Amino acid sequence: MKNFISVNDVTGPSGNGNTINEMVKEALAYKADPFLDKALGEGKRIGLLFLNPSMRTRLSTQVAAQNLGMEPIVFNIDKEGWKLEFDEEAIMSGDTVEHVKDAAPIMGKYFDILAIRTFPSLKNKEEDYSELYINQFIKYAGIPVVSLESATLHPLQSFTDVITIQESLNKNPLPAGKKPKIVLTWAPHVKPLPQCVANSFAQWINAWGEADFVITHPEDYELDPKFTAGATITHNQDEALKDADFVYVKNWSAYEDYGKIYCNDPVWMLTHEKLKQTNNAKVMHCLPVRRNVELSDEILDSANSLVTEEAGNRVWAAQTVLSNILRSI
Ligand code: CP
Repeated sequence: MKNFISVNDVTGPSGNGNTINEMVKEALAYKADPFLDKALGEGKRIGLLFLNPSMRTRLSTQVAAQNLGMEPIVFNIDKEGWKLEFDEEAIMSGDTVEHVKDAAPIMGKYFDILAIRTFPSLKNKEEDYSELYINQFIKYAGIPVVSLESATLHPLQSFTDVITIQESLNKNPLPAGKKPKIVLTWAPHVKPLPQCVANSFAQWINAWGEADFVITHPEDYELDPKFTAGATITHNQDEALKDADFVYVKNWSAYEDYGKIYCNDPVWMLTHEKLKQTNNAKVMHCLPVRRNVELSDEILDSANSLVTEEAGNRVWAAQTVLSNILRSI
């Protein structure tokens, strides 16, 4: 593995050679024995660059790197660094101080792997969906780059989500031959959020190919079909939830009328009453979550919730990705 930006870095761009299950097995092996490869990253450094806030991604990636013997160095570039310019041939007479083509190669000298979090603007769809920022780091750093969540995708989260679903199925197997029904449902929120987590979850579940996958959201919240193609899409949440084994809850803003929010309809918030339609589904969310807006207390505090286990699994996802990159450098 050279970079880790999307599921295509695991399966290949055509989806050939599905190794997601192998990666999940590796992750669960690290969970069983965190220091299995404690010398793999000895003498190596990973730079963790944050252009935006984080708790789980920041901490889990540091723990993962340390489990592999690596030294992680965190740089909150948004607060402590020079404001970066990403546009080629920019005339830098505004507020940007340093061009990524000057900064990234220097980071390439300090680190063996560079990991970056860079959220979308939600103002310029073309720029966000071109993944300009992370692609400029890939172009200029000269070392492997890992996405800690980019403008359109959050692959470490989605890999974690597949690990968490498989782990749950290992503990509570479905009848032989039955694929799990996985539902991604839109949830209300108070402000416009990126589509990254939903895009990425759809991309990974589709590539995994081991589920009956349904996406439900209000009208006007269609996601980019590039990520959702293959899933059943419905605006009827009740219909979607019927017999679900896993419900993944997430808010996102509009993709078509980019970054807009049309409704904050509380009727879309998952409750125990709605969960009765499911196959006693396990409920997932990437966190952070706005309680009693996106997801009810009664669900989050119930035995149906996998959110803490899911966040814990972020370590094993990151450790698996870093170990695969370390083996290739
Ligand atoms: N789920 C997730 O990425 O959490 P953080 O934003 O806290 O890293």
